[in-house]
Amino acid sequence: MKDSDSSCTAVAPCSTANFGPGFDIFGLALDALQDTVTIKAESADPGRQNNSASLSRKDKLTISIEVGGEGSKIIPTVPENNSAGIVVKKMAADFDIRGSINVSVNKGVPAGFGMGSSAASAAAAALAFNELFGLKVEKSKLVEYAAEGELASAGTRHYDNVAASVLGGFVIVGSNRDQNLVFTSLEAPTNLVLVVAVPSMEVPEKKTGVARSVLPKAVPIESAFQNVSNASIIVAGFGLKNVELIAYGIHDAIVEPARKHLIPGYEAVKRKAQEAGALATTISGAGPSMISILDGEACGKSVASAMAAGFNEAGLKSRTFVCRPSLGAKIV
Ligand code: HSE
Repeated sequence: MKDSDSSCTAVAPCSTANFGPGFDIFGLALDALQDTVTIKAESADPGRQNNSASLSRKDKLTISIEVGGEGSKIIPTVPENNSAGIVVKKMAADFDIRGSINVSVNKGVPAGFGMGSSAASAAAAALAFNELFGLKVEKSKLVEYAAEGELASAGTRHYDNVAASVLGGFVIVGSNRDQNLVFTSLEAPTNLVLVVAVPSMEVPEKKTGVARSVLPKAVPIESAFQNVSNASIIVAGFGLKNVELIAYGIHDAIVEPARKHLIPGYEAVKRKAQEAGALATTISGAGPSMISILDGEACGKSVASAMAAGFNEAGLKSRTFVCRPSLGAKIV
């Protein structure tokens, strides 16, 4: 950190998790919406590097949080319950940084709709904190810090949204029980276009936790086989820059069937999107947003209207975004 009242701002994109069969494994950063986080060190110092006078003056860490923007009224401002706050608290503890830190979150990504809202705040917070204090934490470790923030909304650390928001592109979370996590990011084909429909509906406070509570504890081998096959096809599609292969693999035999009843209009959105030219449609993250895969932008607007019409059949208005894969979080 350069002086005692410095600040640093980072932006991080929204993301879609799971991408069909890749539950907790696949994430894709999207250029539809983003969160902005500014971290201001109001006289914070790296404690151990200071003399004892400043240590005694600044022997405590206090974090204040302000939230503005999209749906900000429902975002907690208690650091322990706010995804950016959790990240800042953890990083400050690990690097022994003390004093007063203000975290200002400007929400662009609506919370609770399957667009990686808490992850975008957490990713931007991790990047801004790292830069402000000159910590030089590598990107994969920043993903792990950002995942701490997912505890606030999901009750568990899951890495798909945060990895996408930090790294950008299409990410694969590698997780072996006894080994370190591995995050791989693949560039998307330039003709991959996504349409996201975000329904206007009430969502439970800890929506991701609720959506995880309906998942089966065990799955038939046939469903596991289908998902492994489809997930492999998706990865091949990204590797070969082939949108049709990506869309072919989107079918999810495990999580989507268990969650679809939570989304009013699910069947109609899917059917209408495909009639309008979408190659595939699935739940975005834990929902209730839905996302369609398109080869090029030609039918983007008609797919967006079709998805809105599907939600409309269930009596819901919705917002739609025709978007593309995004780069990851960055300092601004
Ligand atoms: N993979 C997570 C889930 C994403 O589906 O529960 C939550 O945003």
